[in-house]
Amino acid sequence: MLSVSFHDSDDPSRRYQILERVGAGSFGEVLRAVNTTNGQLVALKKVLLRKPDKGLPDNVLREIKLLQIVDHPNVVKLQEVFPQGASLMLAFEYCNTDLAQILRHYPHAMEHHVAKGILQQMLRGLAACHAERVLHRDLKPSNVLVEKGGVVKLADFGLARRDDKAGPYTHTVATRWYRAPELLYGARVYGTGVDMWAVGCIFAELLGKGPLIPGEHDIDQLYCVINLLGTPTEAKWPGMKDLPDYHKITFPEMTGTPLQEARHNVVSLARVCLQKCRRRTFLGRCIYTRGTRESS
Ligand SMILES: Nc1ncnc2c1ncn2[C@@H]1O[C@H](COP(=O)(O)OP(=O)(O)OP(=O)(O)O)[C@@H](O)[C@H]1O
Ligand SMILES: [Mg+2]
Repeated sequence: MLSVSFHDSDDPSRRYQILERVGAGSFGEVLRAVNTTNGQLVALKKVLLRKPDKGLPDNVLREIKLLQIVDHPNVVKLQEVFPQGASLMLAFEYCNTDLAQILRHYPHAMEHHVAKGILQQMLRGLAACHAERVLHRDLKPSNVLVEKGGVVKLADFGLARRDDKAGPYTHTVATRWYRAPELLYGARVYGTGVDMWAVGCIFAELLGKGPLIPGEHDIDQLYCVINLLGTPTEAKWPGMKDLPDYHKITFPEMTGTPLQEARHNVVSLARVCLQKCRRRTFLGRCIYTRGTRESS
């Protein structure tokens, strides 16, 4: 149960002893702290309120609101929210690391069973979000936390929103390398596929060496997607020609790169694990169909 406290008499900041800084982002910083009343470690996300008279920034409000809706072992828990000076503190359950740090320090490509375990937990957490119609919209390795025992938790719901089917939604979400092609083509109406795309990219990154589709800018990102997966067809991606920016960008016809030749030998495992994604996303469909064709 989330506790929100705004009274000086019960100053929650006195309960926390700050140990060190563990992360920094667009909002401010994340501090490792201990709750002195129960000895539990927490991650305090300190959000500087630049204009306190204008209320809470949208991303903070969304993070607080949506994390109360989704309650799942594979989604990080927000325990408490309280003001401290000109900042708002969000106290989360503490996780030891995130996938970006793990990938930085992993000496070789990840063993398949480890990658599969991570994928399964990411998908469970995501299924819980999607069951509540919460789109995360910014899945990437640094937003996937990992607890000491190996439990994976989706975090950073600052760009998340409720999929109320009302649209239009902004297409400037998700970090470029993990951004689904419908967003790159300016889609204003989209759904859970944008998160599934990002999960597919993260999964490939776990199995390979480096990000799967590291575009240098937004158009290059789209180029890299098509270069890897081949020019999409209406059959593979119904409705693509109706996307707002589809006719603004043209690329030469590309056949795609056989995934065995790409840096990521994802075919065999991806074929098994991404079966469930195949109808939902272009990436899932392509990896699945290419894997099936190439191995048959
Ligand atoms: N509960 C937590 N436990 C441990 N570390 C955490 C926790 N939450 C966040 N962190 C660390 O702090 C980093 C930044 O946190 P978060 O992603 O929530 O902030 P952000 O500013 O919204 O992110 P971005 O860098 O995407 O802008 C994470 O990548 C992670 O390393
Ligand atoms: Mg983040």
